[in-house]
Amino acid sequence: MGLPNIVAMDGPAASGKSTVAKILADRWGYLYFDTGVMYRAITWVALERGFSVEDEANVTALAETVSIDVNSPSIDDGRDYDVLADGKDVTWEIRRPEVDQNVSVVAAYPGVRKALTTQQRRIGLRGDVIMVGRDIGTVVLPEADLKVFLVASVEERARRRYLQRLDRGEDVEYPPILQGMKKRDKIDSTRDVAPLRAAEDAVIIDSDQMTIEEVVQKIETIARKKRYHD
Ligand code: DC
Repeated sequence: MGLPNIVAMDGPAASGKSTVAKILADRWGYLYFDTGVMYRAITWVALERGFSVEDEANVTALAETVSIDVNSPSIDDGRDYDVLADGKDVTWEIRRPEVDQNVSVVAAYPGVRKALTTQQRRIGLRGDVIMVGRDIGTVVLPEADLKVFLVASVEERARRRYLQRLDRGEDVEYPPILQGMKKRDKIDSTRDVAPLRAAEDAVIIDSDQMTIEEVVQKIETIARKKRYHD
């Protein structure tokens, strides 16, 4: 019995999907591709160039022209991959609070989604991939062999993000992180194009009371039980 060739892993911010996907991809020798970095990279370039993220036409033009690459890590500084925007390393820049605050607006623009979805689909169809995002199972790769939708309460997700930031040595407080997360959830799940939602054939896993390893185990069991086309 084989493994699923294409895995779609969706869910809200800090639901644990990236961590889980990374572990599984390493175990299976698959490509781990976190599509959120593409929306983040476009947001960072827009801010860097002094554009308002409200300027849909300019931001969309960026998504259509800026080249975003995700490569194996070139530096051993805790990163899982390098993110390059027009050749510049923006791996850490795209995690900054100003990107967090603005990325949902950028990700809601239909033209931005169209440009980035095309690239994501091309990468995903090569197979042996675990692709992570909000709309992978519904829009980007509806033919995925296995679709997982990870959920957790907003309080738990904010707590995880808060601890992650503390761990990185940042000076952070919990309440603004919780507020920011609620705001992003709302924009991501109510936008017109490709809103955050589980595909009808997705396996929904609530990770509130589970460790990362338990989630990984659960997905691995489901993945190995199913039969897939070659
Ligand atoms: O997963 P993340 O926090 O890095 O995602 C950043 C933003 O991009 C978030 O607002 C949701 C959006 N996003 C999306 O709309 N579709 C995806 N496939 C991935 C991310």
